[in-house]
Amino acid sequence: MKALTATTLNDMVRTPTFVRITAFVLLSLSVFFLFNRFTATSPSLVFSSLPRPLYKTESSPPPRPPPPSPPLTATTSSLSPPPPPSPPPPYPPPPKVDMMIRMGIVDETGAMSLEFEVGDIDESWMEEEEKSRGGREEKEEKEESGARVKVGKYKVCEKSMGEYIPCIDNVEEIRRLNLSASVERFERHCPQQGKGLDCVVPRPEGYQVKIPWPKSRDEVWLSNVPHTGLVEDKDSKKWILIKKDKFIFQGGGRANRHLNQISKMVPDIAFGQRTRVTLDIGCGVADFGAFLMQRNVATLSIAPKDVHKNQIQFALERGVPAMVATFATHRLLYPSQAFDFIHCLGCRVNWTLDDGMLLLEANRMLRAGGYFIWAAEPVYKREKNLREQWAEMEDLTSRICWELVKKEAYIAIWRKPLNNSCYLNRDSGMQPRVCDSNDDPDNVWNVGLKACITQLPENGYGSNVTTWPARLHYPPDRLQSIEMDAYKSRKEIFKAESKFWNEIIDGYIRAFRWKGFKLRNVMDMRAGYGGFAAALHDLQIDCWVMNVVPVSGYNTLPVIYDRGLIGVMHDWCEPFDTYPRTYDLLHANSLFSVEKKRRKCDISTIMLEMDRMLRPDGRVYIQDTVSVIDEVKEIASALGWVATQRETSEGPHSSWRILLCDKQERKKEKRKRKKQIN
Ligand SMILES: *[C@@H]1O[C@H](CO)[C@@H](O)[C@H](O)[C@H]1NC(C)=O
Ligand SMILES: *[C@@H]1O[C@H](CO)[C@@H](O)[C@H](O)[C@H]1NC(C)=O
Ligand SMILES: *[C@@H]1O[C@H](CO)[C@@H](O)[C@H](O)[C@H]1NC(C)=O
Ligand SMILES: *[C@@H]1O[C@H](CO)[C@@H](O)[C@H](O)[C@H]1NC(C)=O
Repeated sequence: MKALTATTLNDMVRTPTFVRITAFVLLSLSVFFLFNRFTATSPSLVFSSLPRPLYKTESSPPPRPPPPSPPLTATTSSLSPPPPPSPPPPYPPPPKVDMMIRMGIVDETGAMSLEFEVGDIDESWMEEEEKSRGGREEKEEKEESGARVKVGKYKVCEKSMGEYIPCIDNVEEIRRLNLSASVERFERHCPQQGKGLDCVVPRPEGYQVKIPWPKSRDEVWLSNVPHTGLVEDKDSKKWILIKKDKFIFQGGGRANRHLNQISKMVPDIAFGQRTRVTLDIGCGVADFGAFLMQRNVATLSIAPKDVHKNQIQFALERGVPAMVATFATHRLLYPSQAFDFIHCLGCRVNWTLDDGMLLLEANRMLRAGGYFIWAAEPVYKREKNLREQWAEMEDLTSRICWELVKKEAYIAIWRKPLNNSCYLNRDSGMQPRVCDSNDDPDNVWNVGLKACITQLPENGYGSNVTTWPARLHYPPDRLQSIEMDAYKSRKEIFKAESKFWNEIIDGYIRAFRWKGFKLRNVMDMRAGYGGFAAALHDLQIDCWVMNVVPVSGYNTLPVIYDRGLIGVMHDWCEPFDTYPRTYDLLHANSLFSVEKKRRKCDISTIMLEMDRMLRPDGRVYIQDTVSVIDEVKEIASALGWVATQRETSEGPHSSWRILLCDKQERKKEKRKRKKQIN
């Protein structure tokens, strides 16, 4: 009997089933133990939650790689297989199969860690990559010689649409609403569903590959922005001139003198330290932004699309952050307390109109303790009407508690208060009133302006950001006020997101030679906390990033600005307010799967818009799930992009892929021109 039992036991021990069960139990126990440890040290950090904290889980969770099971409790002992000790990365890492990347958070001992590494890139693989790119060029050349012309699905739009911005150029709607005489005509009026872009926007005649930064700060091709309005404008013609086939910008000296004057008037402004993010309204050719950049200040330049001046088109062609936007009847798409100062040099906004509604909008976007810089005729001219305008401005600013810090020569500088105490201590009945406390100042999508003073948060959030450059990696107070799933530890997510993108971009730089591709205007179409942009900064890519926060996710914009980066709210089912051909790189990380889930528009709508925004030699990096990438790839080729699909480091079994697209419109259009000539 004893012998029998022993044998049975012996047999059992030897059977694979037993081995499997034992292994399973041991693994389950260790996983259980590890998770308990994590939850003890950092209650809410689950790896999968990490770099994708930004879904609004409205109904069901978004599509995603198999979730590394959340903290296991009693269910550990259920019969489902235990989670793999090293979970798939929530974001697809760089596309090298054996470029071992461990996606952090849990190291091989199971300890939580941010110390993860990207392995060396295999040189031979890089050569292969080069070759494949070269090979494609050759094939293209062959096609060009007429052997085989692949006809894309999308036709090229009419030539007249070469500078088309869909929501701004909606002439039909502007006429229907009889807006041609009002500032509202410069606001967004998007084409109705089905009436949007259905073709590829053409380049202007003679378009040339951009002049790279920093040279582009001083000169751009005339053929790329074929407009001479600013050269003829009396205010700007001294600073811009045409020499042969180029525009030459000569405003550098003036811009620097202006900046020195501001520094001298209020030393506390401290460019590049206390002042990092600024807004320049009605920016001309964006000299101010271009030269502030040298002082480590990120300036967003805005202006309406004015067919005679093309200010924003110039700014972007030069490689300076800019966007079409206007002060009219709706909130601008930037959060509260975004800018350390706001600058208006002859910007032609009537700040005192409608009970100061537009100045109150500037006030909303101005950081507590931030400065408003007004350089305009009423500041220094003595004519009666100008004196009246100054008096009106003085009156309004004092009623909204701005302190006139300094007035000198043509510049007046005010400071916004640090807290609400002045607003609340005003005489009762004083106009403008303070906004209702339930008015969310960061809710900006399609929100009309009201003539009221936005209150500052009682807890002082936003008023005390760290100085630049520490600011970039310091988790700001407002991280805590972002509406999102509460179980996540925000600071850990914030740090890990940065760390994550640092590793990825480092891989891209080496594998795809990013340093060589003259990246300047970059857009992150789903920016999260801005980790992608921060990584580009850390890795010294000399570019700027427009961090777009889609309305389909959490509003992380206040954090992006608190870090010293710029960004904007947007709905990707609508066109973006930029000119065609203005970005060198578009980055879309799991954007399409989210938008698909929303079912508001087709992926092709978004991709046509991407094509419009992309410079003719621009690139697109898309990370998404296999099924989405398959669809995206088809549309990419219909757009005439050259798309290459890559596996992530997880290999072929991961549900994530990365798609690299080159627009390469030059060749396609060259072919078209040749055909026309023949
Ligand atoms: C359009 O607006 C102008 C003034 O802004 C007004 O004179 C005109 O009557 C309006 N036309 C229509 C059709 O409403
Ligand atoms: C701005 O609007 C105010 C109030 O309507 C008006 O008094 C002032 O003259 C306007 N200023 C300019 C420059 O049009
Ligand atoms: C509010 O800000 C002012 C400066 O704007 C400062 O003097 C005052 O002490 C602050 N009050 C509180 C309660 O923090
Ligand atoms: C502002 O932040 C600094 C450090 O970032 C801190 O030392 C200081 O006490 C803070 N001040 C206020 C008023 O919160």
